[in-house]
Amino acid sequence: MKSSRRIAKVAKIDERVLVLGASSGIGRSIANLYAERGARVCVVGRRRDKVDEVAAECRSKGTQGPAKRILGVYADFAHVEDMVRLRTTLETEWQGVDTVIVAAGVSALQPLLAVAGLEASANGSKFTPSQATTKGIQNAVDVSAAATRGNYVGPLVAAVTFIPLLTSTSVSPSILLVSSLAAVIPAPTRTIYASTKVASLLLYQALSIEHPSVNFTMFMPSTVEGDFRASAVDAGPVREADPNKHGLKREDVARRCVEAVDTYEKTVFMPRVMRLGHLLYWLWPTFVEWRARKKYNFTA
Ligand SMILES: NC(=O)c1ccc[n+]([C@@H]2O[C@H](COP(=O)([O-])OP(=O)(O)OC[C@H]3O[C@@H](n4cnc5c(N)ncnc54)[C@H](OP(=O)(O)O)[C@@H]3O)[C@@H](O)[C@H]2O)c1
Repeated sequence: MKSSRRIAKVAKIDERVLVLGASSGIGRSIANLYAERGARVCVVGRRRDKVDEVAAECRSKGTQGPAKRILGVYADFAHVEDMVRLRTTLETEWQGVDTVIVAAGVSALQPLLAVAGLEASANGSKFTPSQATTKGIQNAVDVSAAATRGNYVGPLVAAVTFIPLLTSTSVSPSILLVSSLAAVIPAPTRTIYASTKVASLLLYQALSIEHPSVNFTMFMPSTVEGDFRASAVDAGPVREADPNKHGLKREDVARRCVEAVDTYEKTVFMPRVMRLGHLLYWLWPTFVEWRARKKYNFTA
């Protein structure tokens, strides 16, 4: 374990951690890890039963801390009023926040033209029907808008709402964005997902220059086990191998996220070697494109 300069400033049991998108998956594991080490944790998601479940799970862990150590808040991170209400709750209950984890996000799994209702021929050059209809194009726009809301607008609202609270109430303000490897390495069937994930990645990278007093961490995992694909904003077939058989373990991803925040890491690739995959795309794109086609069983 690397030495942690941050823990010298914010003791584990004094840390106030907001986890946006903690009702399942990676965010849930992160919330549990922080609760285990005695931090105050605010569990946020839209599904009430899941938020209550994770908050109860967190309460059963860690030391007996102050009252209101674990908070469960039902909220949509792309909804401005929800985030302002959440900020008021943190000000009232904890007098601020030290760490914001932006784990919420939505998947999208189909090729863009399939979302518009077109079936491509084997080499991708002909379509049935031959043109996208008005309704089909509109569907592509609507699905993109839903993905943009979940993967870009949410992180934007979170940043605008919580950066001033972080800087005014924490001795070591930190934000971690759970981005994706898909945001930096293009892949078939990830047109809408990847382009909306890279938008929030660039947003946070630029914000980290605008706000040097905040420690930003950008986290890029490859496929992770779990049910992320069930939340797809474009219903349809999943082409890749079952993430629960080959994906990264949620707990490993969560541990690496917490370590990265503790040690002020700016950019984290998981697995580490994927940092090279990202560079390789610029040097040898055809190789990376071949690997991406294989991974997603894409034949055109
Ligand atoms: N799974 C993967 O293979 C993978 C790979 C790379 C990166 N990622 C990224 O990892 C993050 C977490 O994914 P996961 O695998 O843990 O998926 P997950 O199990 O579906 O978790 C997503 C979480 O985000 C919450 N959420 C979604 N939209 C929200 C909104 N508008 N407001 C508040 N909460 C919202 C969900 O809660 P509610 O539904 O209760 O709101 C849920 O708690 C995502 O940002 C994803 O892009 C995933």
